[in-house]
Amino acid sequence: MPSHIHSTTKVHRIALIPGDGIGTEITTAAVRALRQLSATLSTFTLDFTQFPWSSATYLQEGHYMPSDGLAQLKKFDAIYFGAVGWPDVPDHISLWGLILPIRKTLGQYVNVRPVRMLDGVTSPLKGVQRAGDLDWVIVRENSEGEYSGQGGISHEDELHGVATEVSVFTRVGVERVVRFAFEVARGRPRRKLTMVTKSNAQRHGMVFWDKVFWEVAREFPDVETDKMLVDAMTVRMTLDPKSLDTIVATNLHADILSDLAAALAGSIGIAPSSNLNPERTAPSMFEPIHGSAPDIAGKGVANPVGAFWSAAEMVRWLGEDKAADVLMEAVENVTRAGVTTKDLGGKENTEGVTEAVHDIYTMAS
Ligand code: NAI
Ligand code: MG
Repeated sequence: MPSHIHSTTKVHRIALIPGDGIGTEITTAAVRALRQLSATLSTFTLDFTQFPWSSATYLQEGHYMPSDGLAQLKKFDAIYFGAVGWPDVPDHISLWGLILPIRKTLGQYVNVRPVRMLDGVTSPLKGVQRAGDLDWVIVRENSEGEYSGQGGISHEDELHGVATEVSVFTRVGVERVVRFAFEVARGRPRRKLTMVTKSNAQRHGMVFWDKVFWEVAREFPDVETDKMLVDAMTVRMTLDPKSLDTIVATNLHADILSDLAAALAGSIGIAPSSNLNPERTAPSMFEPIHGSAPDIAGKGVANPVGAFWSAAEMVRWLGEDKAADVLMEAVENVTRAGVTTKDLGGKENTEGVTEAVHDIYTMAS
């Protein structure tokens, strides 16, 4: 064994799915940052296997993944994902062809979306000036709810055409995500959890969600709780961001609120997400929350920070806490220095930001 390789070097096997548009650009940047990270720390290595599953594959072959695609993914320690979706394929085909089956089939029933003010980043909110002014973790239900896929269309092109989209809330599904959110809240200094639904107008599924939430809450007397209707939540997030800490919401609501949250914390380009299988019976998947951004794809200007942060969350999930901290420190050094892309008010491109992160490792090692 070469002497520079530490004898306890662990190998983590990563399935890499760049996908479409800026998904390919930001995953390239993240893989580079991760390789530098493991080279600098030399306590672990990442063994990437790339899967070219994308909208181009769909247009050529009629599917995003081959029929054994999910079985192939199960063999990995984690999945690192870019984004999927392209204008020449309807968005419901791309989402249901790739990312939704992965989340559902691999038991990734929670989607954790931390949002906070990175150093040097400015919020569009005038009351948000420093780190603690906006520091949230949004826990999104990731397997059922409004995205359960139940429903149908009849008489599509007739005057009496009809479509249903049925939300599904199961006790198992609600309980497990709510319990996970309580654990997250308990692990944070403020021990505070806000539950979001719309149980005034949606009187079955969401009332049931609320009921299960309050049942689980009894197991966590040390966590302070409150409840918001989703419409009022948008106002509170905007006008009183300091009053929030951990947030748990349904698949649809948390999807929408987390885009808002990212924008309030500076840009959609910085926000990470972890699709977790908490029991670790299958790999979890890590991806920035943004999509393939066809409007800026191919120009090399996408903000890679959300991809870096997602990469940090991935290595943390794999037990490499030190590596996660080092990566996030490097990223915040770079944002603090104002080396940012246009969405954060800077002048750099993807490459420039990635180089700047690289320089920090070089200085450190
Ligand atoms: P989007 O997130 O791709 O883009 C929204 C806006 O934010 C665009 O103006 C884009 O340029 C900007 N933006 C996004 N990421 C950025 C970054 N890293 N740096 C700088 N600017 C960034 O959402 P949109 O336009 O609604 O969807 C585009 C496609 O992506 C669609 O096909 C959609 O279905 C898909 N999508 C896929 C997701 C996934 O794979 N998880 C998530 C969201 C959308
Ligand atoms: Mg979204």
